[in-house]
Amino acid sequence: MKSKRLRSHAWFSGLGRDAFVHRAYLKSEGFSENVFDGRPVIGICNSWSELTTCNLHLRQVAQVVKRGVLQAGGLPLEFPTISLGEVMMKPTSMLYRNLMAMDVEEMIRANPIDGVVLLSGCDKTTPAQLMGAASADVPAIMVTGGPMLTARWRGEELGSGTDAFRLWDAVRSGELSEDEFLEAENHFARSAGHCMVMGTASTMAAMAEAMGMTLPGCACIPAADSRRLAIAEASGREIVSMVHADIRPSKIVTGDAIENAIRVDMAIGGSTNAVVHLLALAGRLGLRLELDDFDRLSRSTPCIVDLKPSGERYMEDLYYAGGIPAVMREIQALLHLSSLAVNGKSLGDNIANAEIFDESVIRSRNTPLFSEGGTVVLRGNLAPQGAVLKQTAASRHLLHHRGKALVFNDRADMYQRIDSLDLPVTKDSVLVLKHAGPLGGPGMPEWGNLPVPQKLLDIGVKDVVRISDGRMSGTAFGTVVLHIAPESAIGGPLAYVQDGDFISLDVANRRLDLEVEDDEFARRRASWRPEQPQYLRGYGRLFLDHVLQADRGCDFDFLVNDGIDNARDDAVYFAELGSRQSSRQ
Ligand code: FES
Repeated sequence: MKSKRLRSHAWFSGLGRDAFVHRAYLKSEGFSENVFDGRPVIGICNSWSELTTCNLHLRQVAQVVKRGVLQAGGLPLEFPTISLGEVMMKPTSMLYRNLMAMDVEEMIRANPIDGVVLLSGCDKTTPAQLMGAASADVPAIMVTGGPMLTARWRGEELGSGTDAFRLWDAVRSGELSEDEFLEAENHFARSAGHCMVMGTASTMAAMAEAMGMTLPGCACIPAADSRRLAIAEASGREIVSMVHADIRPSKIVTGDAIENAIRVDMAIGGSTNAVVHLLALAGRLGLRLELDDFDRLSRSTPCIVDLKPSGERYMEDLYYAGGIPAVMREIQALLHLSSLAVNGKSLGDNIANAEIFDESVIRSRNTPLFSEGGTVVLRGNLAPQGAVLKQTAASRHLLHHRGKALVFNDRADMYQRIDSLDLPVTKDSVLVLKHAGPLGGPGMPEWGNLPVPQKLLDIGVKDVVRISDGRMSGTAFGTVVLHIAPESAIGGPLAYVQDGDFISLDVANRRLDLEVEDDEFARRRASWRPEQPQYLRGYGRLFLDHVLQADRGCDFDFLVNDGIDNARDDAVYFAELGSRQSSRQ
């Protein structure tokens, strides 16, 4: 067990002064000599925070992971990173995803860590940890925190986000009183855990499992279920084996594994946010992934999972129905079954015995919810570098639509006018929001599902075509075109749209076009001027200077792996230790 040279040995082995100091200070935690016998040091990267309520139970999860690590002969050491709470952080947690990814990467690299267990939950915590761990590329396993319990109020089941949007619209249309709305608030978040519909957190947990970065079955176990702790303990044992077998993220997250994740994303009706996160993750590993890959895989993957916002059910139901293993078994003909998972087995082996226990939640591929996947990629003169739309959460009758633009220059403008009864809006209007992209938001906030104007709600209109360069919560629904690239803040075509222009959306042909004559378009482009940057210093400035557009995953340009061997970065840290040898040499 202790024969192989590990990263941590550079800190703890030998008689030198540095080793003396490293051991002496760690002994302040009460460790005896025994823990310095060469056993693997396992970092437990915890995104717990009282400001991230979805991750509130991760301290308990970490304790159980430690139990597993100790059982397998490792030394567990827990460490915090910044945590991104979707609900609390402004202007958007997405502004900080790359910061958290850097924090995760640097904490792994700078410390005596041979393997790491990643504890995530809320939306951005999962992709941030995957990106950081991929760049550090030491053995890593993820334990997602699981969904919260399904909300129940007055005999009705409610889904996070999805039903908040619906109830708020009901208040605005007079169908629900304000008192009833406030009463529902008390029943909305019943436990720790992430949003329990197929929002971004559920989607990214499923992506982590689909690409082999968690133990099989991890994604759907409710946060409050004892099996969540059991899989955490098993993950603690597994990471020690992974260190001995040298199973690193770069061996698991391959091009095939990412394709598997995209297939599953389509089959579950996953969040559009998965697109930016998977593009960013692929970039960290130097893998070639394009927006059009999502569309290619979407066209040939049926959506078979009936969860809100595309369907009716909840993550708890998906767990009881067989979870992600059962979904993957049902579409196994579309998957790369030889892909490696954290447990050292192939995907094919891991799902061989999976079963569907409730076909009303996980449909047969022959009777899908939708014949195609949830997310489609659009192009056209309004989105030369692409845009996305979640067709499974859109209104059928609006998927082929032509209407006049009603333009909001930014979110403040939108909020000021959206409920005015003088708003020149009809059910055929196309609502356009500018300055919601990576630089314009900034941070590409989830502003894309603009509220349906009061004037339309009053006449019973529940959906209208909306387009922007922003994102949308994975829990949201509606005919909403998102992620338009290049964005308006840098002079993308969206910047030149004016009230009254005709816009056509043709989902079947994957088109989004602005019907403006070329010379008029050129005139508007020539007179366009960028707005002042919103940050002049600090992290915000770093973000604005380096963030990539949505079609590149919104990572920072200097974090994309363009062929650099990660071992080269490791060497810098090892040089400080007086050992010019990394564990890979
Ligand atoms: Fe954390 Fe929805 S608010 S996952």
